[in-house]
Amino acid sequence: MKRLLLIIALALLTGTAGAQNKLVIQVDQGQHQISKHIYGHFAEHLGHCIYGGFWVGENSPIPNTRGIRNDVVAALREIHIPNLRWPGGCFADEYHWMDGIGPRADRPKMVNTHWGGVVEDNSFGTHEFLDLCAQLDCEPYICGNVGSGSVEEMSKWVEYITFDGESPMAALRRANGREQPWKVRFWGVGNENWGCGGQMTPEYYADLYRRYAVYCRNYGDNRLFKIAGGANSADYNWTEVLMQKAVGQMQGLSLHHYTVPNNWGNKGSATNFTEAEYFTTIEKTLFMNELLDRHSTIMDRHDPRKRVALVPDEWGAWYNVEPGTNPGFLFQQNTLRDAIIAGINLNIFNNHADRVRMANIAQAVNVLQSVLFTEGDKLVRTPTYWVFWLYKAHHDATLLPSALTSARCTREGRPLDALNASASRDANGKIHVTVVNIDPRAEQTLEIEPRGIAVKRVSGHALTAAAITDHNTFDAPDRVTTRPFNGARVSKGVVTVKLPPRSVVLLEME
Ligand code: AHR
Repeated sequence: MKRLLLIIALALLTGTAGAQNKLVIQVDQGQHQISKHIYGHFAEHLGHCIYGGFWVGENSPIPNTRGIRNDVVAALREIHIPNLRWPGGCFADEYHWMDGIGPRADRPKMVNTHWGGVVEDNSFGTHEFLDLCAQLDCEPYICGNVGSGSVEEMSKWVEYITFDGESPMAALRRANGREQPWKVRFWGVGNENWGCGGQMTPEYYADLYRRYAVYCRNYGDNRLFKIAGGANSADYNWTEVLMQKAVGQMQGLSLHHYTVPNNWGNKGSATNFTEAEYFTTIEKTLFMNELLDRHSTIMDRHDPRKRVALVPDEWGAWYNVEPGTNPGFLFQQNTLRDAIIAGINLNIFNNHADRVRMANIAQAVNVLQSVLFTEGDKLVRTPTYWVFWLYKAHHDATLLPSALTSARCTREGRPLDALNASASRDANGKIHVTVVNIDPRAEQTLEIEPRGIAVKRVSGHALTAAAITDHNTFDAPDRVTTRPFNGARVSKGVVTVKLPPRSVVLLEME
């Protein structure tokens, strides 16, 4: 009896109790595709995301193609970036696109009131953004100005970009050196219109949305996928009203949710945090699951056939800025904790693939939970970058139904599931499973039972580091990176995996 109690006590202490971790995957089933657009990114005119991040200008000594950094493009192509959201963010509802076309020297300058009050010289505008997307081989996602713009302005922007015939806007585009229209599918009608995008009520915005959406025309064979500005985190009423009043006019409805460890006044440090703060941050990240469930339930009532996509087009961790940096630039470091946050969110999105068909992490370069940092001609891939690298295996694959039983990770009085996962089957029949072990100290042994297939081989890659605070710097750019993983074995149809503590692991099974 004493021995049994000791074993139970030990198991509770370490957060692992026997073969508690089990993942059953229905390999021969699966109805929904995990859209690659879930793996989208976001580039706002904020801090050094655009200027210094993507754009250095043609005369820069930093290697570039028509002003766009080659190293950044190459790094994002490696993770198969599917779409890029631009120009904001809060900036979008103050942006007047006509300021960003024509000869650069003639473009007016404006104040970027939201982000540091710096001068925006409009040298990066519509042509530069669409050139960037072409270089990245990704789809553009443009967010139009509802807050301080007009219906006419937004309507003309669509015409300028996508119309192939004779019209004032098409003529202007040609005069600016672009003969052919571009293809643009993803079109946001405003951003955070409950806040920086105009402080509107959902009823007022829904009416405005309908009006703006009418004049965002489909020219030729270009078909806009119109995305209505969605709720702030758990504002379910916003989703309810938007769905009630405008479901027929939209293809997507956005949702913004950031993981803030403490509170908006003092968000917490990106690198200097305790294990208790780590657990709070993870708990807050896991809330994404409830958010998606509840927003989806509302959408299901108005749109049972799931025609409208739920688009979390701003997600990620938001900390205090790095000491000594401009508070308006939102520059924060990125640790192994961020990789874990990214892995969890992406697993949650995958598992909601029936409704979540697009998402955008905030933001791509040098801002918030970035995948890349730049400094002069140097580039660093953050731990979050490597999660996107691992998860590209899920792009456009079929989501496989799976049931996970996880041990609890009970340190610091917070009982959380140690593991979370998602699984998919790609076009070649390969199975990919991504598993996050949030436990900062203990290895977890996971039994995977893939039903409907006799697995012969398993391989993988893992991302982990010595501490959850570990991160990459310009001096040590590869401290946190992926490595080939050989902790998985197959025996009698069951795959047994030894998941390192604080890790994100990709398994490939055939
Ligand atoms: O991503 C930074 C800001 O966060 C965006 O501009 C805004 O939409 C959100 O509040």
